[in-house]
Amino acid sequence: MIITIDGPAASGKGTLASALSKLYKYAYFDTGMIYRAVGLKAVLEGIDLTDEPKVLEIAKAMTFEKMMALSSHPDFRSDIGGQSASKVSAITSVRAALLKMQQDFALSPVFADGTKAEGVIYDGRDTGTVVCPQADIKLFMVASPEVRAMRRFKEFQAKGIETTYEKVFEDMKARDKRDSERQTAPMKPAVDAIIIDTSDMDPKAEIDYVVSLIESKLK
Ligand code: C5P
Repeated sequence: MIITIDGPAASGKGTLASALSKLYKYAYFDTGMIYRAVGLKAVLEGIDLTDEPKVLEIAKAMTFEKMMALSSHPDFRSDIGGQSASKVSAITSVRAALLKMQQDFALSPVFADGTKAEGVIYDGRDTGTVVCPQADIKLFMVASPEVRAMRRFKEFQAKGIETTYEKVFEDMKARDKRDSERQTAPMKPAVDAIIIDTSDMDPKAEIDYVVSLIESKLK
């Protein structure tokens, strides 16, 4: 079983993916992490994010191990991490260099401890359109920019990351624009994706709804 969950930042992809992964024991691949890893590594090395050859070199050398090591950096999940991920992800050659690593995960999905999983859940922007167009279930999550910015602002506050709601809102708008207008693999629902608006949706109702979709596929 392959499930793809795409959509903009803070639309509820991660929460849903984690819940489904626990429920069905499917491995979960948060594909944004690889773009965050490439972007953050470039920032830490003082590389200009528009310097394609240098960013591409980092992308080609990216591995799961390096990604996990970078994920503990304080800026991995901050606005800096999000914006730098969005900038490097707009480079066509960088996306191409990171595609196989994402696609290969579905061939033999495993959990972090190496145990085999029965299925895989991808979370990203293009996982239903480019990474896994053959997925069994494709979801595209949406929510109003105000709701998403408030969710992200609260997450940052809980993690002790200093910012303001206004800054989070502006950064999110810039990221949405870049992600949906880029030439390669722009963020958009696959033609056969089910669109879920989580703005006013109760998380439990959302999970129940997706579980019913999975159950009917499994039958
Ligand atoms: O999902 P997350 O916010 O961690 O993603 C960070 C950035 O990585 C996104 O804003 C987007 O630019 C990029 N991304 C992408 N394709 C994916 C996942 C993430 O371009 N499949």
